[in-house]
Amino acid sequence: MSEAIRVYFTGECDGFEALCGALDETGEIVVVGSSTEVAGAAAPLAGGHLDCIVHATRAASFPAAEVAAIREHTRAPVILVASGSEAAGMLEQALEMDVADVLLLPQLTHNVVFAIRKAAHVRRQLQTTAHRGRVITVFSPKGGTGKTVVSTNLATLLAKRDGMRTLLLDLDLQFGDAAIALGVEPDKTIYDLVVAPGELDSEKLAGYVCKHKCGLDILAAPLRPEDAELVIESKVIALLEVARSSYDAIVVDTSPFFHGPMLATLDRTDELLVLCGLDVPTLKNVRLALQTLEMLSFPAGRIRYVMNRTNANVGLSTREVEAGLKVKVGFELPTDRAVQLAVNRGEAVVLSEPRSEFSKGIAAIAKQVAPATPPAKKVERKRLLSFARA
Ligand SMILES: Nc1ncnc2c1ncn2[C@@H]1O[C@H](COP(=O)(O)OP(=O)(O)OP(=O)(O)O)[C@@H](O)[C@H]1O
Ligand SMILES: [Mg+2]
Repeated sequence: MSEAIRVYFTGECDGFEALCGALDETGEIVVVGSSTEVAGAAAPLAGGHLDCIVHATRAASFPAAEVAAIREHTRAPVILVASGSEAAGMLEQALEMDVADVLLLPQLTHNVVFAIRKAAHVRRQLQTTAHRGRVITVFSPKGGTGKTVVSTNLATLLAKRDGMRTLLLDLDLQFGDAAIALGVEPDKTIYDLVVAPGELDSEKLAGYVCKHKCGLDILAAPLRPEDAELVIESKVIALLEVARSSYDAIVVDTSPFFHGPMLATLDRTDELLVLCGLDVPTLKNVRLALQTLEMLSFPAGRIRYVMNRTNANVGLSTREVEAGLKVKVGFELPTDRAVQLAVNRGEAVVLSEPRSEFSKGIAAIAKQVAPATPPAKKVERKRLLSFARA
């Protein structure tokens, strides 16, 4: 069965409310939500994994500002809906401005469903033909749960063992320490990237990453906490789009907050690793975070739960946590002295102690969240083997 088409409604015009209700009743699309004001829909637009936005307007000419406001949050296709014949004149400008379609009301419901399906299909086609690295986001709603340890080691393993072009992106924008955890002192950071003039492309991105000796690229967090506020959502959207075309995997370290850049990242996340711990305050926050993810309509199938420090005897077990949160923990990582030692030496545990239980746990995560070898590399290796045998 094809994946459900997730739609969000914004704006207003005569007949739009009735249309939204009729579309919802068809059962052919999933209505994620609606808001008459684009400004009031920032969170679901950015984090809702939307396939299409249907925006209604009362403007007589092309509503450039309204479309731009939507584009601040999402690259999903936009279909404009308007009532009144003067709106017919918007079509040309709309198509020039990257709007998928313009529909004048009244319309038969199935015509609108058809337009939505078409717009969503074209976008999915484009996404599957373009190179698209996997975005793996490591999140926990509590500080100190192990986000940085997990993201740095996962990224290192993907780059070193699997030879994947991997970017470690530190979105713990105020106090990020992913580069330091791997012994890299960044000379440029995401802050320098976002304040640099000009359009972002792969070449420009390459100029701002730091290289780790294992082959991993790191885009470090700003050096000063106050610089974090310049790393706004729209910059992170552009960054992730470019990174996906340049890398096979983008591993994102995060802070324990759902701020704008985090919502933009969630919208582009293929695998969300939620870190849990065996303590009640962390579990309370995980429960709240899951409610927020549900509110944002983040697809539950993309969430994997990782229990960190499992061997600690603290009167709470992974099974009890599973029962309490009503989720299945996919991976368990033990407390391992090697982790602390490696962090203090600025090393990745997966390189310094690859046989440790912690490293084995990271390898299990890597196997699930990112395919071992990108197809292009497999072909290359096959060719080399047949060449060696000849
Ligand atoms: N499985 C583990 N075994 C031993 N030590 C661990 C383990 N997981 C994390 N630690 C230690 O716990 C500390 C906190 O981990 P880490 O910095 O990865 O957490 P974080 O979630 O990124 O924190 P913050 O929210 O402050 O960024 C580190 O010193 C790390 O070495
Ligand atoms: Mg951290």
